[in-house]
Amino acid sequence: MPKSRVLLQVDTDPHPSVFDSVVALDAGVDHLLRHGGVDPEGVRSLVHGCIFTRGPDELKNTAIFIGGSDVARGEELLRQIQAAFFGPLRVSVLLDSNGANTTAAAAVLAASKHLELAGGDALVLGGTGPVGQRIARLLAGAGANVRVGSRQPERAQSVVDELLARHPSGNLSAVATGNRQDLADALSGVQVVFAAGAAGVTLLPSDIRKGAGGALHVAIDLNAVPPLGIEGIDVMDRGAEREGAKCYGAIGVGGAKMKIHKAAIRRLFEAHDLVLDAEEIYKLATSSGA
Ligand SMILES: NC(=O)c1ccc[n+]([C@@H]2O[C@H](COP(=O)([O-])OP(=O)(O)OC[C@H]3O[C@@H](n4cnc5c(N)ncnc54)[C@H](OP(=O)(O)O)[C@@H]3O)[C@@H](O)[C@H]2O)c1
Repeated sequence: MPKSRVLLQVDTDPHPSVFDSVVALDAGVDHLLRHGGVDPEGVRSLVHGCIFTRGPDELKNTAIFIGGSDVARGEELLRQIQAAFFGPLRVSVLLDSNGANTTAAAAVLAASKHLELAGGDALVLGGTGPVGQRIARLLAGAGANVRVGSRQPERAQSVVDELLARHPSGNLSAVATGNRQDLADALSGVQVVFAAGAAGVTLLPSDIRKGAGGALHVAIDLNAVPPLGIEGIDVMDRGAEREGAKCYGAIGVGGAKMKIHKAAIRRLFEAHDLVLDAEEIYKLATSSGA
């Protein structure tokens, strides 16, 4: 008899995300084991429950999803989960704390539909947050020239340093975006801008965006809470043409994000040894028709 698909949902927040649970069930998971307040020290025994209960040839029917608002803590959970595996006793793991990986994959995928990322110039506003960092990481991996924006250039520089450790030949730079002049300078000459700032904060006013002129081909905003991150873009935009640029709002990107999230959950059950982080999820996104 075929084994049922069991997903262990480990969440660093006190209550495991209901959003992530619903998506998992919609993606075809049979049984969801939900744990909140999971810390890296305590995850080992949960992992043992996954790897010691089914034979090695059946382990692809068990998988782990890591969620929660704290991405750094989610990354530490992933390290500890991997450290608890040994030999063939391992199950596939998906990291999507704060929705950062699936959201970043959807945003970069949207941009890639309109321009060649390799060699292109990109600006990531709010590039120090979990979503912005993942966008910058995917862009660097795709060969784009990436400007990481922040109100505090030293914060952007530390993100750039981390990304360069991962992509030593990457063309990454930190840019200040804390005032109008800095913002206009940061935007100058870029073909694509991503706004990944905090919810309810406008990062790019309309006049500065229009002042960028013809170079800007794509503008993508991930903030769904008014006021939006890029002024003049509609939250529902999905490739809408505005002042010569293809524009995406947060809900416009959200449809692809949901498809990617479900595709990643389904992918977990195709093998017992997958680790789906930003790059793997983006690769899946490019082949999933999202
Ligand atoms: N559609 C989806 O499924 C989905 C999923 C996840 C997230 N999101 C959205 O994606 C966006 C990014 O998420 P996140 O969690 O990475 O964001 P975040 O951590 O809350 O903020 C990102 C960056 O925004 C900047 N920022 C914060 N407050 C600001 C302010 N008052 N004025 C100007 N800049 C400010 C900060 O950068 P500096 O301090 O370095 O300037 C911060 O690092 C959010 O709008 C979120 O709602 C969407």
